[in-house]
Amino acid sequence: MLDTKINLFGIEFKNPVMNASGTGGYGKELDSFYPLDTLGGFVSKSCTFNPRFGNPLPRIADASLGCLNCIGLTNPGVKKLAQEEIPPIVNKYPNLPYLCSIAGETKEEYIKEIEILNKVDGIDIYEINISCPNVENGGMALASDPNLAYQITKECKKASKHPIFMKLTPNGVDIAKIAIECEKAGADGLILANSYQGMRIDLRTGKPILSRKIGGYGGPGIFPMALKVIYQCAKVTSIPIIGVGGVSSAEDVIEMLYAGASLVEVGSLNLKDPYACKKIVDELENVMKEYNITSLKDIIKGALKYE
Ligand code: SIN
Repeated sequence: MLDTKINLFGIEFKNPVMNASGTGGYGKELDSFYPLDTLGGFVSKSCTFNPRFGNPLPRIADASLGCLNCIGLTNPGVKKLAQEEIPPIVNKYPNLPYLCSIAGETKEEYIKEIEILNKVDGIDIYEINISCPNVENGGMALASDPNLAYQITKECKKASKHPIFMKLTPNGVDIAKIAIECEKAGADGLILANSYQGMRIDLRTGKPILSRKIGGYGGPGIFPMALKVIYQCAKVTSIPIIGVGGVSSAEDVIEMLYAGASLVEVGSLNLKDPYACKKIVDELENVMKEYNITSLKDIIKGALKYE
């Protein structure tokens, strides 16, 4: 009997595969392709206090091993989420862990969002996104300074009635140092990591393709780098890690668990193929058999013993 279950804080994930924030809407969008509880858990698109239209088009640029985005936190605002988007999906799938992702420009904005979301039944974990590469204020800046990361973690933890997972940036920082500060400030877990900054240029005009010129690159091309970040942070922290970055197969999921992740998110691939997570879940047990793995929880951080 193969065991794919992962338990964090008493929350049971029937497998470690989830969508990454921004690749499944608020739940009903992905649920229109396959039953959402095929996944171990669901992660919502980051919301802000007020609705945001996001950045001008084009917001997506193709790349050979993934794609770039500069969406700009498009979302209908936390009140609409709390009233209209989250309740139907958590009522439909009461046993599916729901990770609600929030973002903002200031500490106060995150706190106001948490206060509203604390009143919504069915949310299990908050993803605190302090690493969006596509906005002017807040976003990545908050995860680039150890003091700011410490402070926002502490304040969010104080306000939250659920475990909080801090989503960090891999761009231009000593991410292990930031991860340590988040743990010290009371984070329950880490989400490692957001996309890598990059750009594309249209050869016919010489003009940058994305409206913001620079965006976040995700997809199979960043998988080895994402793995390294997880491994590096798993060595210096002891809180659970959700791994994200270029995952495109059940083999990748297992590799991320060995590196130190307890759960894994699939991002860019969902944008190309909305069935990506389901295909990975369907393959998971076959790959476990191939590598003689009987229990996924037993391989978490397995690679660290070679230190
Ligand atoms: C976006 O909405 O720009 C992407 C969100 C993120 O990368 O955090």
